[in-house]
Amino acid sequence: MNEWNAMNSSEPDQMSETSPAPLRGGDLVLRLAAIGVVIAGIAGLFLYAGGWFNPHALSPATMITAFEQTSGKHPGFRRNHAKGVCVSGYFESNGRGVALSKAVVFLPGRVPIIGRFALAGGQPYQADAAHTVRSMALLFKLPDGEEWRTGINNIPVFPVNTAQGFYDLLLASAPAPATGKPDPAKMSAFMEKHPESAKAMQLIRSQPVSSGFADSTYNSLNAFRFINAQGVMTPVRWAMVPVQPFVPYHAPDSGQADKNYLFDALITSIQSHPLQWHLIITIGQGDPTADATLPWPPDRQQVDVGTLTINQVESEDTSPARDINFDPLILPSGMSGSDDPLLSARSAAYAESFTRRESEHKDPSAVSPAETGK
Ligand code: HEM
Repeated sequence: MNEWNAMNSSEPDQMSETSPAPLRGGDLVLRLAAIGVVIAGIAGLFLYAGGWFNPHALSPATMITAFEQTSGKHPGFRRNHAKGVCVSGYFESNGRGVALSKAVVFLPGRVPIIGRFALAGGQPYQADAAHTVRSMALLFKLPDGEEWRTGINNIPVFPVNTAQGFYDLLLASAPAPATGKPDPAKMSAFMEKHPESAKAMQLIRSQPVSSGFADSTYNSLNAFRFINAQGVMTPVRWAMVPVQPFVPYHAPDSGQADKNYLFDALITSIQSHPLQWHLIITIGQGDPTADATLPWPPDRQQVDVGTLTINQVESEDTSPARDINFDPLILPSGMSGSDDPLLSARSAAYAESFTRRESEHKDPSAVSPAETGK
């Protein structure tokens, strides 16, 4: 998606070819006109890149505005994964990742983490629901000053494989004003245009949903590359797999469904004992790295590289994690992005969402300091 990258037009500069001969009046007018045309051309390219001449061009701003149009504008909140709670703890590496990546995070030992659990969607006051996508976002603070940021979801594959696909899905699933529900005609038109999404959604629906945040597996979905000290590059995906046993979701009794029941259960668990996940690296063997709708075969080699422990929980109203952009391309040396086009799209969209929310006043989080006890 070119629109996602800053445009680097390198038009040859005709003006540098000027002759040293004195200019006559007519020449001067012609040259000024030529300069004007060049400047207008360059300005036009920037305006085009910004989507001004083509209202249908997909830019980060267009994408983030679409979130605001479909979920309403909620100042100060993330435009997606808007409802969340912040956490902290540490990651203990067992040293097994060193063979795959020279990243400092894989040296044996402990590094602090700060993170955030959230529900997908642009509404910060939505009621918790079992089938809403759950996320874990983490920032690993490495001893050499580097950071590894990752945002991972509890679904096996992503529903789209391009930014355009995400935008189309956003518009197709917007609630129709008359019913408050997505228009089925728009959804089926979307599925027809994006058969890869229809397949991915089938897989997502077939996966059993766990009881809450604590017993969910969170997946990177995008592929990345690990580089070890010998310069060997390995395509990978990663997952946080819970130590907490899987308990299948069951619908709360009617009347019992507290609006924050998933967050409240998470807070209660962390307050009673630390929660843990294994960081599992899956090694690709010629598997697709540029298509997050496709699963990798289940027999791929997996390496358990260490354990994440989460032992503190805090409302977004007071935690510094509210003001972190969990950009998936903030990676330490020894890790890099892959050819997956979603990675640069995410990076650009998160920056736009972050810039907008950081300049706005902050409304209180649905998961308040009273609930987290902090
Ligand atoms: C083109 C595709 C995507 C778009 C446009 C998009 C958009 C967004 C936006 C706008 C945010 C809020 C960022 C902020 O204000 O800090 C967000 C958060 C998040 N996204 Fe995406 N996203 C995309 C794909 C993905 C994928 C493939 C994953 C895979 C796991 C993912 C996982 C997350 C997570 C975990 C968060 C929450 C991070 C936090 O708690 O701060 N997203 N997304």
